[in-house]
This record gives sequence, C-alpha cells and structure tokens, in this order.
Amino acid sequence: MGNYFFDQPNAEFLDRVDGKLKVTGAAKYSAEYTFPGLSYGVLVGSTIAKGSITAMNTKAAENAPGVLTVITHLNTPKLPGYKPNSDAAAQPEIKKGYRVFTDNLVRFNGQPIALVIADTFERATYAASLIKTQYKKEQHHTDLNAELKTGKPLEGNAYKDNIRGDADAWKNADVKIEAEYTMPLEVHNPMEMHGITVVWEGEDKVTVYEKTQALKITQQNIMQAFGLKEENVRIITQFIGGAFGSAFNTWPHSVAALMGAKKTGKPVKLMLTRDQMFTMVGYRPEAIQKIGMGASKDGKLTGITHEAIAMTSSYAEFTEGIVSASRSLYTCPNVTTRYKIYPLNLSMPTWMRGPGETTGAFALESAMDELAHALNLDPIEFRLLNYAETDLEAKKPYSSKFLKEAYQLGADKIKWSERNREIGSMKEGDWMVGYGTGTGIFVAWRGDAKVAARLSADGSLVLQSGVTDMGAGTATAMTQLASEVFGLAPKNIRFEMGDSNLPPGPFQGGSGTTSTLGTAVNNVCVSMKKRLTELVKDNSVFHTETIHTVKPEDLLFEDGNIILASDRTRKVSYTDVLKNAGLPQIEILEDSKSGGDEMSKYSAFAYAVHFVKVMVHPVTGVLKISRIVTAVDAGKVVNEKTAESQIVGGVVSGIGMTLMEEGVIDHRYGKWVNNNFADYHVPVNADVPKIEVLFVNKPDPVLNPMGAKGIGEVALVGFAAAVCNAVYHATGKRIRQLPITPDKLI
Ligand code: MOS
Repeated sequence: MGNYFFDQPNAEFLDRVDGKLKVTGAAKYSAEYTFPGLSYGVLVGSTIAKGSITAMNTKAAENAPGVLTVITHLNTPKLPGYKPNSDAAAQPEIKKGYRVFTDNLVRFNGQPIALVIADTFERATYAASLIKTQYKKEQHHTDLNAELKTGKPLEGNAYKDNIRGDADAWKNADVKIEAEYTMPLEVHNPMEMHGITVVWEGEDKVTVYEKTQALKITQQNIMQAFGLKEENVRIITQFIGGAFGSAFNTWPHSVAALMGAKKTGKPVKLMLTRDQMFTMVGYRPEAIQKIGMGASKDGKLTGITHEAIAMTSSYAEFTEGIVSASRSLYTCPNVTTRYKIYPLNLSMPTWMRGPGETTGAFALESAMDELAHALNLDPIEFRLLNYAETDLEAKKPYSSKFLKEAYQLGADKIKWSERNREIGSMKEGDWMVGYGTGTGIFVAWRGDAKVAARLSADGSLVLQSGVTDMGAGTATAMTQLASEVFGLAPKNIRFEMGDSNLPPGPFQGGSGTTSTLGTAVNNVCVSMKKRLTELVKDNSVFHTETIHTVKPEDLLFEDGNIILASDRTRKVSYTDVLKNAGLPQIEILEDSKSGGDEMSKYSAFAYAVHFVKVMVHPVTGVLKISRIVTAVDAGKVVNEKTAESQIVGGVVSGIGMTLMEEGVIDHRYGKWVNNNFADYHVPVNADVPKIEVLFVNKPDPVLNPMGAKGIGEVALVGFAAAVCNAVYHATGKRIRQLPITPDKLI
C-alpha cells in the first residue's frame, strides 16, 4: 500500500518494465533519433477547404538559407504504388482517395500542399512561410447539420436499414421514449505528436522511425507506395506517447517525409505541430443519433430503434459500428438500426478509442436511463430485467459474460441502493447531487502473432515480437505472463519489441493485443518447458524407485528451476539444464493463430459498468464528477496495475468527452477554430477524481489460454451516458448534447 499512485494493494503485480526509461527521458520516440546530416521537414497546409491550386510560388522558399528542397504537386517524385487507380476518372471522388502532392485539388483546409526541407527546423519553418499559393475556390461543405438538409448521404450495403423482428416496434410499446443525442468532433490529441524520421540507404532501402500502432501494416504501406522489397523496409517504433487509434494509417505527412528524404539524400525528421494534429491524423466523427425505445409495463424491452448520422471526408469512406451494440447489449426481440454518413470537405476521420461503440453507447445508455425513469424502475434493475444471456444478434452463446457480477461489484462499492432515487432530491451544501450509471461493451477477439524465445545458459529469457505499445504496458504484461507461465523471475526476462525485423506481432489496437500476443507468449513458454523436459526427462535427479523417465506433468517450473512435483527437494536449475546439455541457448519461434473454429461458435465481449456521483452548482452550472467507480468484466486480468491504468486512462478520456472536448469548425472557411490545447479542452488532474476500478477477474474459457479479454477501449464506452444520467438525477435536466458545459446546466 501507499507506493502506488492509486493506493491499490496490488504490489504483487509487476511495475512497468519501461517506466524508468519513460520518466527519465531515456525512452526514444520517433522524432528523437539523430543522424549526421539530419534535415528537417515542415509542411505547408492549404488555406481553403475545397477547390484547386492555380499557382504556387516557391522561389523565395527555395532560395532561403539552409533549404534543400521544396516539394509540391508541381515537382512531386512519382511513386510506383502511390497513384490514383487507373479508372480514377470514372470513380466518384470518395473512391479516388487522397495521395499527398499528386494533384492540385484541395479537399480540406489544412491539407498538406508543400513540404520544405532544410538543415534546421527553424530555417524550414521560415522558408515554409515564404510559399505563396493561389487558389480557385469552390463552395465547401463542412457543416453536418446543413448537409442533412441539402446534401446526400452515401449509398451502399453499409447504409441499409438493419431490422431484427418488427421494424420500429418501439412505437407500439406500452411505455416509450424517443430522443436525439448529438456529439461533436473529437480529436485523439496524444501527448506525443506524430513524428517520423527517415533514413534511406541508397535508392531502394529505408529505415523508418515512425509513430505507428501497426509495424507490419506500416511496412507494407511503404513497400507498396515506394515499390520496395519487404527486407528493405525496416520500421522502428520503440516508444509511443499515446495514440488512441490515430497511429494505424500511414498518413500523408509520413509519405511526404519519405519522399523528401529520398529526394535530398539526407535523413529527414518531420514532426507535426499541435495544430496539424487536428487535420492530418484523423479524429472521431461528429454524430447525431436518434433512439426510440419501448418496453412493456413490467419493464421488458419490446423495441429499440437506433439511428445514427455521422460524417466522413469527401475522399475516403470511414465507417464505424455506432449502432451495433444496440443490437446485442440487451435482450430485445425487435431492433431496427440505421446508419448514414455524409461526406464533408474535412480531413478523413479515423478510429478513436472505442470507435463506434463510444459514440453509440452515449445514446443507447442515455436512452436506457430515460426509459427506466419513464417506467419508474431503478436503472440497474431495468438493465437486469433485460439482461442478455445469449447474443440474439449473432445467435450464439457468449464465451463468458460476467456483466451481472460487474453491476453488483460497482453498485455495492458506490452504495447505489443507498442513494435517494427521487430526481433532484440529494444535496450537499449548495450543490445538487446525483448518481448515474452507464454500461460499456466492446468486442473481444484474438488474432495471429509470432513470438521468438531465447533461453540462454545464464538463465535469461528474451522474448521478441514486432508489436508496438502506445502506452498500455504491453512489455510489462507480457513479461509478467511469461514469468508466470515459464516459472522465471521477471528480472530475468526481457521483452523486445518495436522493430519490424522481429517476428511479426499483432498491431496494437482493437483491444486485442494482450489476447493475441499473450497467446503466442504463453505458447512459446509452454514449448520451452517441453524442450527443457526433453532434456531432463532421464536426469537421475528425478529418478524414483519406479520412474526413470519423467513426464511434463511430473514437473513444476518455478523461479528458474525444474522441480519434481512429488518431491520438491529434487530439482535442477534451467542454467544447469543447458550447461549439462552443452547448449549455449535454446531458441523457439511460436506461430500462434487466431481464435479459429472454436472461437467462431461464440460471441465474445468485454464489459465495463461505470457508476458516477456528480455535483452540480445550480447558480454557476459548474459540474464536478466527485466519484467514479468502474467495474469491469475483462476476463482474467494479466497485470492488475497496467490493467487498472488502462481503465483509468479510458475513464479520463470519458471525462474529456463528456465535459470538455468539442472540435469547432468555422464553417465560413471550413477551418478548425480550436486547434490547440488552449481552446480544445482535455481534462487536467484537477478535473479527475479518484477513479476506483474493480475487476470481476474471472477467466474466459474460450478466448485464449490466459482467459483474458481486452480492456483498452471498453473503459471509455458508456461513461458519457453515466454522467448525463447522474446529471439528470441531480437536476432533472436531461443533457443530450455533448459536452456538458456549464451553460447547459444553468
Ligand atoms: Mo484503438 S481505436 O484500436 O487504437
């Protein structure tokens, strides 16, 4: 107790293996590598939202001190795999995509239109300011609400009505509600801005230090664009300072940096500025959602209709499952979902923590609260009345589901039943007090991964996999897991990652890293134990009167020793096993496959139940979240410290989403207004109360050998609704438009 930030007595779990490197500044991020001759790239963004470039004057920039090159669409190097599709002319704009510098079209305000490379960052920045551009403007559309009236949504299978049972059955229910929920653009805003350092060795070989959640995908994107062989493209991502989904794509700025470095023959570093982070690496799309929900008088759901309208860019179709959780979180025979997106002249949205579910659960879990109140039922009781024992949508049983246990854990902790249920009844001094809850759901799964293990005669184990870690604590969790499975102290284990030269690991995202990579780590440790058993099975240490050859099940593997289970005094160290066998090391590569047939029989989800206590000041509209309890069914937890930290991080994102975050576009110019941390607000320490995290901690028997489900994203899902529901309990005001700023509460 006491030495851990959140005062949890879980000292038996490993501290972050990379913690010291991070807090001392020794950890190297993608824009922190230096090389002789390192040059600096600075991007120039367009100042209109739609149209074309009619003229560009780059002379002054080219002649400015220290400038090595200026790249624009007028002189862009042609890349073999980076051109519009051959039938692009016949395609609608949205199918053509956007490839930096390949044409003179402007698709959004802030689109990169020039790259300046100079010998210092300051000189590149100055030269970039000298570029003069003339445009032919066209009418842009950046306002989703305006577009609903005059524009056309995209068409296709993704946008067809999805009806189970009777369409819009909620309309015929005994008790029903209908409401609209809106939320603005949200931006990932990780602490580390996206950065890339590129080092070409000749024409066809490159090493790229890139902020990416997906080493393999990044490697393949670069191979394809530049026509390179796999063995000639090395991606290194040792550390990531947060990403939240912004670092899957190989974004235009990265391709530009690769072009610039190749053209100049110098190593080039390019780091986005904070304002460029708002237009160049995606964001969560704005969404308008309508829910109609009905129940019988005794509180059984009879119909849910969930309609979502969101947006994408004019040049890429980004879709996400905003309405999907509404089809399966509760038992309801009649569910109708509709999803429409409108292309706007903004940059491309992308996945952001809990993509789809986070947006959807804000509406669904608010609506559940509204209907519970209409039925005069306790919101938890209402959820339990409609608890899904099987997945009606997938028509499959759950691999495991301990959501009921999570409700119980959380409700007990915050003393849910002791609150006064009456709206507006609770007070502390001048403050109105309210309690609310919201449930999060996120798919659990397992993909493919390779892990190499090397046990050396000095007793150390090195594990290697080409995965990156955006902050979840992957190396820590894997070290802990290997320690438990292989029976070796964590200090003797090193997990190496962040390099595409290593055996390919999973991308980090979709809450699947621990499940996927952990399975491969588990399997390689099991294989290593089998190999050791082979080496010792005839060892006289283990001979008994009747047995001269031991089997794996006769042995224990603990703290670097193989021990005879029936007589713990008989043992041999891993070090001695290798020495006796004359082996300097043992190497094993394990190739672990995704869930497969067994998994496909089940539906698998992780769950989070958020309980919050809020205080609302009626005169000023100030809203304080004074207590947060989040109870999680994430299967068996591999490392409670890093897992708790993940939940805390997700909840803090939820505080931002609910109280502050709001991307504002000035529609006259199609330009971001609050593209900085002074104006785009995220929570600071003072906004964050103690967050109490509880895990049900029961293993999932199907998903993977650890029994673990993912937790990174579910932590955020459902939180915004919990706060809105608590505000309603405190004040009787139903806030259906995020963020809940004080003006909405006065
Ligand atoms: Mo997450 S949106 O899969 O980084």
